[in-house]
Amino acid sequence: MKKILVTGGAGYIGSHTVVALQQAGYQPVIVDNFSNSEESALAGIESILGVKVPTYRIDCGNEAALRGVFEAEKDIKGVIHFAAYKAVGESVAKPLAYFQNNVGSLLTLLAVMPDFGVENLVFSSSCTVYGIPDALPVTEATPTKPASSPYGRTKQMCEEIVHDVSAAPTNKLRTILLRYFNPIGAHESAKIGELPLGVPNNLVPYITQTAAGIREKLTINGSDYETPDGTNVRDYIHVVDLAKAHIVAVQRLLDRKASESVETFNVGTGHGNSVLEVVQAFEKASGQKLNYSIGPRRPGDVPAIYADATKAAQVLGFKTETSLVDSLASSWKWQQTLK
Ligand code: NAD
Ligand code: WQD
Repeated sequence: MKKILVTGGAGYIGSHTVVALQQAGYQPVIVDNFSNSEESALAGIESILGVKVPTYRIDCGNEAALRGVFEAEKDIKGVIHFAAYKAVGESVAKPLAYFQNNVGSLLTLLAVMPDFGVENLVFSSSCTVYGIPDALPVTEATPTKPASSPYGRTKQMCEEIVHDVSAAPTNKLRTILLRYFNPIGAHESAKIGELPLGVPNNLVPYITQTAAGIREKLTINGSDYETPDGTNVRDYIHVVDLAKAHIVAVQRLLDRKASESVETFNVGTGHGNSVLEVVQAFEKASGQKLNYSIGPRRPGDVPAIYADATKAAQVLGFKTETSLVDSLASSWKWQQTLK
């Protein structure tokens, strides 16, 4: 079984990817400092897989500790780097922490990998790198725009760092940059999912918490955008589908099929849904009415963005399988397991 190091493997997308890796015949090894996750995620993973996944509780920015993991595990074949802070609003309040953690952990990883002959990297990027696009859907060739938050800037900087490192003459690194759109949902077992921290900023946890009675009502952030129903449009991808994109990316790198040292892929469904459509789909999935009202626009929101998913389909053979209603049903099932 080929060993794949998964930084941030106890997190939301990481935990689903660890499960998918093991089920695809890889040996995942988790590195996480649990800054935004709980040990319970490990129990969930173990319960789904029936085996414990080796886990190191370390900070990815701690070079000595990270070296220790590569030494102890010996034959790591590739890394999937999820470890980062991801809250857009918090990044405005604490920009330094975001640059230190998100850029710093990548730099540390890139410094350590070659010393252990590890040449394959899958990096978690984001549709946030496109800013407000001029045309839809966005392809990988769509120009990036100035980021609207320090968080977004860390993703742009990390992409550029990977390109520069790869361009060095002695470089052996091969990277796949995956630009995720909006991940939602949870594993069908409801044993792993997204852990809410305080009041959610993201739409789907806010919806499920409202339905569960934790929040009084959802406020839709504006209905006066130039979109079909006036509310923002996004590309919501089920997290289990997203996890599978990592498996095909890792396989491509290990098979040495990548055509360039850095390849970039959008990972989305290719369909845009408005906030109102998500509310309606949730009502269908849960069988209950959601209490909501229309509020003002949220500063910094992109009116509409969704992926052109053609490149991932053609090159990676990757296609999403889960409908919006089924994705939301899994979110709702997960919510009901939370206190
Ligand atoms: P998450 O917060 O659930 O998972 C990140 C994990 O990394 C957490 O378990 C956290 O404890 C860990 N971590 C953070 N900094 C670390 C460090 N320095 N050392 C070790 N562990 C560290 O987030 P997620 O939603 O699973 O996102 C995973 C990645 O995908 C992130 O890089 C994020 O920016 C990116 N991404 C997320 C979304 C989204 O909407 N969830 C969209 C696009 C891109
Ligand atoms: C979705 C839509 C809101 C909450 C964020 C990051 C992005 C990426 C994915 C990491 C928007 C609306 C939300 C609410 C609402 N993450 N909404 N009421 O902003 O598309 O993307 O996550 O890389 O970088 O910015 O996701 O879930 O916050 O919002 O009306 O209470 O739901 O305005 O239109 P977003 P989101």
